Amino acid sequence: LLITIIMSILAYLFASISSAILLCQMLNLPDPRTAGSENPGATNVLRLSNKPTAAMVLIFDVLKGTIPVWSGYFLGLEPVYLGVIAVAACLGHMYPIFFDFKGGKAVATAFGVMLPIGYDLSGLLILTWILVLKKTKYSSLAAIVTVSLAPIYTYLLKPIYVYPVLMISILIVFRHKHNIMRLIRGAEPKVSKSQKDDD
Ligand code: G3P
Repeated sequence: LLITIIMSILAYLFASISSAILLCQMLNLPDPRTAGSENPGATNVLRLSNKPTAAMVLIFDVLKGTIPVWSGYFLGLEPVYLGVIAVAACLGHMYPIFFDFKGGKAVATAFGVMLPIGYDLSGLLILTWILVLKKTKYSSLAAIVTVSLAPIYTYLLKPIYVYPVLMISILIVFRHKHNIMRLIRGAEPKVSKSQKDDD
């Protein structure tokens, strides 16, 4: 249990490092917390800059989830404790201690924590996300649909992890409340640079 507590704190602190904010500062780009959709995540960095920069944010934010969970796995922790570490990582991205507890929506970090569960689950998640994105062009809707299906996929493939996945999914849908309102109003910007002034 002590290892789980220490690992969870480390996971929270590591995920509190906002790659979107730091990279935008380094590259003299607008602050993703106040520009675009005002969300420090890969989607908004894509709006504010370009694909390579957004990809760097995406990869870093995925690793913030994968590294702590993999580490716990290699230390031989039980699934329930890995779940605690996974939730801690997502909370770090959402409520970062280094940035006034104002973080992102943890879509990439949640994918990162679910990656070690298996290639079947991660493959399904990517496929769902890409399909919805291609069909609708809304990154937020792709994330909402994917995380809503994630507990069902997990229940079917690796039921032992269903509770942490469910908890993370609920947190992520909750973090998308403004996106959901904008989607209903028809005011949500699509993933395209030309729409960045719509926010
Ligand atoms: O990954 C976050 C995405 O689901 C929504 O981002 O910037 O459009 O609010 P954004």
